[in-house]
Order: sequence, then structure tokens, then C-alpha cells
Amino acid sequence: MAQLASLLIAVCALGAAVAYPNSVLSNSLLKTLNERGNADVAIILKSDVSSIYDEIASSGLVFSVRGERMAAIRAALIEYTSQSQANIRSLLDGRNVAYKTFWITNRIIVSAADAELVKLLSSHPDVVQVREEIVIPLEPLTRSEAVIDEEVKQNNPVRGVWIVKGHELWAENITGEGIVTSNIDTGVRGTHMILRDNFLGEYGWYDPSFRTSSPNDGNGHGARREGFGMAPDSRWMACKGCATSSCAESDLLGCGQFIACPTLTDGTGANCTKAPHVVGNSWGSSLGGQDWYDDVITGWHSAGVIPVFSAGNAGSSCGSVGSPGDRQGVIGVAATDMSDVIASFSSRGPATGNGGHKPEMSAPGVDVLSSMNAADDHFDRLSGTSMASPHVTGGVALLIQKNPLLQGDYDAVRTALFEGAETTTLTGSSQTCGGLNDDTFPNHVFGYGRLDVVASSKK
Ligand SMILES: *[C@@H]1O[C@H](CO)[C@@H](O)[C@H](O)[C@H]1NC(C)=O
Ligand SMILES: *[C@@H]1O[C@H](CO)[C@@H](O)[C@H](O)[C@H]1NC(C)=O
Repeated sequence: MAQLASLLIAVCALGAAVAYPNSVLSNSLLKTLNERGNADVAIILKSDVSSIYDEIASSGLVFSVRGERMAAIRAALIEYTSQSQANIRSLLDGRNVAYKTFWITNRIIVSAADAELVKLLSSHPDVVQVREEIVIPLEPLTRSEAVIDEEVKQNNPVRGVWIVKGHELWAENITGEGIVTSNIDTGVRGTHMILRDNFLGEYGWYDPSFRTSSPNDGNGHGARREGFGMAPDSRWMACKGCATSSCAESDLLGCGQFIACPTLTDGTGANCTKAPHVVGNSWGSSLGGQDWYDDVITGWHSAGVIPVFSAGNAGSSCGSVGSPGDRQGVIGVAATDMSDVIASFSSRGPATGNGGHKPEMSAPGVDVLSSMNAADDHFDRLSGTSMASPHVTGGVALLIQKNPLLQGDYDAVRTALFEGAETTTLTGSSQTCGGLNDDTFPNHVFGYGRLDVVASSKK
């Protein structure tokens, strides 16, 4: 009898499990529900947002000011997603659970959904997928404390800026004046001595989870100035996509929306004409070929914002580049040292998804002098592709100031960066990834070469 009873229980348990539509639910979500009883979940709605972009593209509407196109798209996306999310929203409202809705992609993120709710959602006809909310840990950085001498305080070029020739453009008065850079990271210590004078101010800060009213950084990953002053007269804005030492999907999507159409710190007053010229992203997962941030990237392109991503620190194996730094539509950046040798930690391609050559280019990312969150005059030397990509972010600011026609033109910026990239001074690791040796260019180790803003400004 006892055996029969346990067999019956096993059959019932199995019955409960198969009641979830398998195609809609991931195994990792089922595991978390079994272990914890609830999970933070992302609900992917059936209706795709790409039709909205197609409609605007075929509407014949002409937009003269950068940001106007995005304003039209944002309004259409809000209408479209709120209609298609209506049933799910009212289902959630009736259950008193916390959830966040998004318009840049057709997605809802629910906190602590229990198994019964997940089951309901996963069998709902408006839903294409229910999975766990993605949480991306920031990769650990190598750091050593730096002593800052007077020269650096006066903002003379530091090594990384000097290697990519930022100072040579400064000599032509190209210092980033009039350009707005941005980053999505752990936040920024806004009072830091090299950052405080260049904060954009209104429309310059957003913290999706806590709605703090001014820039702050509890972690230190995000505090640095783009490449330590690549574009010393640009202004910066920032979004806290990584509330701790990890970055939650809901915050990263909230930041994606903010960069496309900035708001006040409370999330109101959206104005797409305030969008930055370039966005630096020093975060990413070690998994490649993931499409979950693609809609945000599409949104940034429509807003005229150039996306730059670090390739990741998962090298030196081939195929170690992760998403979104490996996706189409972003400039993915590898790290070289101060002698133009590829960093062993720098993630290698080829990309497994739609990204083509990833990483696409390189920049200094070893022992980079970086402003830190510990104090207003604290600096460390940090190593990681997180330090390489800000050189490109700041470099894009210089290129756009020098040639305003590049503003919002991703393809033209990319071409200028790649055609100007330095290849002759680089030392690889004699590695062949994706069938290309790293001494032929482009390859999957350095991409097209190392940033050279002077050469790129002439392309
Ligand atoms: C740079 O700007 C300064 C101050 O506006 C001016 O005196 C100088 O001639 C400019 N230099 C170049 C190379 O344009
Ligand atoms: C957005 O900002 C621009 C530039 O400051 C301003 O001219 C415009 O009126 C603002 N639009 C809205 C809808 O607030």
C-alpha cells in the first residue's frame, strides 16, 4: 500500500508539472519555482514591437531634429504595448503583485510570482514566453590604488588617451564640447573631482529601481569618466542599470528606455530630444547569442544614439564574447594593454548570433586610471574591457564634434572607427578564432584594430 501511495503521489506530481506548457516555460524557471516557491519572471508578450518601426519607416514622415523620430515611435509603442499588455496587467492587478511594464520591448517583469501565477501566465493566449528575469553579475575587475599627481589633476592626457591620440584632437579644439555621453552601469559618484563639472543636470540621471534624485554609485564599477577624460568638455548623463554588483533585466530595460527618451529623475517628462549622442555599456553576460536586449538596441538606433559595449572578460578562449556586446548594431570593444598587446582576459569571437565580427575593435583596458566611488579624489588603476569601451565612447564624442554629420549615423560612425583603426602596432596571441589568425584584420580577437581617433576623424 505504501508503495502504491508513493507511486500515486509521484504520478500526481508529474501531472502538476506537465500542466505547464513546456514550450513557454524554461527549465531554470521550473527549478527555481520548485526550490523557492516563487520567482522573478519576465513575461514576453506575443505581439512583437518591430511592426511599429516598420510603420514609422513606411509612413513617409520626415524628422528634422534628432529625437523627433523616437518621440513618434515611443508614442506608438506605448499605445501598442499597453493595448497588448492590457489583459495581463489586469490579471496581475487582481493579484496584488509588484510588476513593471515596458514599451521599448513588449515585456512585463513580475516580482516574486508564485507557481500558480506562473502557470496562469504561461497558458495565457497573449503570452509567448515566461522565463526567469535575467540578472547579470558584473565581472570582477582587477584594481590597484593609484596615486594621482598634479599633471593628471590638470587633466593632461593619461596613457590610454595618449595611445588612442585623443590629445591630438584636443590640440585642434576637439574636446567633446556640445556632445552628451552616457553610460549604463552601477551609477556615478557625481561629486567626483573630474566628473562634477560636466554633469548634464536635468535629464541627466535615472535610477529605475530607487528613483534617487542625483547621481550615486554604491559599487565603484561605474564611477569612472569615459576613458578618464577622452572628451573632457563633453557632458555626461548616466543610468543605474546595476543596482548592486549585478544588473537586473528590469533596471537594464528601464535604462534602455531612459537613454532612448530621457526623463526627469522620477520617470516623468520624457523628452527624446534630450537623448545622448553615445551610450557606453560596460556590462554583459558571459552567454553569447542572446537576443533579449535587441529591441532596446533598435530603439537607440531610432533615437540616434550610438551603442558601445565592452566585449567581456571571459577570454582567452575563442567564442567567449557575450551578449549584448556580441549583437548586431553595437560596437563591441576588446581590451589591449598599454603596449598594444591583447589582454588575455579580453573575450574573443566569433559571435554565435547575428553580430558578425565581435569584438569589432580594441582600446586600452589594462591598468587604466579610473575615478572611483570611494571619495571625490579617489582613483584606481583598473583592468577589464569595461575600461576599454569608455575610450571608444569618448572617442565617438570627439568624432561627432569634429564631424557633426556623424551625429546619429551609426553606420558612418562605425565605418570611421574601423577604417581608422590601428593594426600595425598590435601584438596578438597567435590565436586563430573562427578561422582567422589574429595578425590578419579584421579578426575575432582585436576586431578591425585599436582605436585611433585622429585617423578615424579623417575618414
Ligand atoms: C581653439 O580655441 C581657442 C579659444 O577659443 C582659440 O584661441 C584657438 O585659436 C583655437 N585653436 C584652433 C586650432 O582652432
Ligand atoms: C524637449 O526639449 C527641447 C529642448 O530642450 C524643448 O525645446 C522641447 O520643448 C521639449 N519637448 C517637450 C515635449 O517637453
